[in-house]
Amino acid sequence: MTATATAAASGANATERFKSDKLAGAAGTPPERVDLLAREVLDAVHATIRRHKVTYAEYNALKAWLISVGEDGEWPLFLDVWVEHVVEEVATEHREGNKGTIEGPYYVPGAPERGAHGSVPMREGEPGTPLTWTGQVTSTDGTAPAGAKIELWHADADGFYSQFAPGIPEWNLRASFTVDAEGRFEIHTVRPAPYQIPTDGACGKLIAAAGWHAWRPAHLHVKVSAPGHELLTAQLYFPGDEHNDDDIASAVKPELMLSPRPVDGGETVEYGFVLDPERS
Ligand code: DHB
Ligand code: FE
Repeated sequence: MTATATAAASGANATERFKSDKLAGAAGTPPERVDLLAREVLDAVHATIRRHKVTYAEYNALKAWLISVGEDGEWPLFLDVWVEHVVEEVATEHREGNKGTIEGPYYVPGAPERGAHGSVPMREGEPGTPLTWTGQVTSTDGTAPAGAKIELWHADADGFYSQFAPGIPEWNLRASFTVDAEGRFEIHTVRPAPYQIPTDGACGKLIAAAGWHAWRPAHLHVKVSAPGHELLTAQLYFPGDEHNDDDIASAVKPELMLSPRPVDGGETVEYGFVLDPERS
């Protein structure tokens, strides 16, 4: 890395990304629903203040901190780390196939297409253990849905994401794979490093003030899609990572753990996905 990532820069990028991809689907919540949810959240805040006799000094510290979350552009990071995992749990609890986990702030649509077998874009001499990943995408009835696609994105061996940290080629370690007629794929990439959420902004201040840590275990992000099927957003993890049991984003699930095996020059792993047909 020639330049260092800052919370303000990666936060601003994550905010722009969110506004351009996700805002359209956010409109149209009926007033009764807004009333119910806003009231219950405020009730929970009021109950906490009463239970713990929150002081004016603490109230002002909270106010200053909330202002700085906005100034640092860290609302996407804050929400994706401490809130999204429960939204994901509720959204996917009906599924019979894979449930998945949080998307996080660093997905970018439109990554280069590599077919059913290929390598993600990498720099020359990309650091990290080479990883070959094979698998199959099926529907809950065991058939292979036509046109299934795996979008993969992940951090590099220093824990940085292209398009959010400076000095990395645009699509580095981001690609899309379209599976073959049997739903199979073979992906070549490198193992990512554990990732520390930015510590120099408002989220970092909260972590330090509360005596928490900022780490997520190493993970591969995927979106798996097929016509007529529910979109699966997931992350895959590596056994033995010291943060598998205390992920700051609470996004690790046992069924998302890979079992990589060492081979000449790297590692190989098999992991597939089961997609739920869309509900009518
Ligand atoms: C954050 C980063 C991630 O890579 C992720 O998967 C979830 C959250 C974050 O910085 O907020
Ligand atoms: Fe991530």
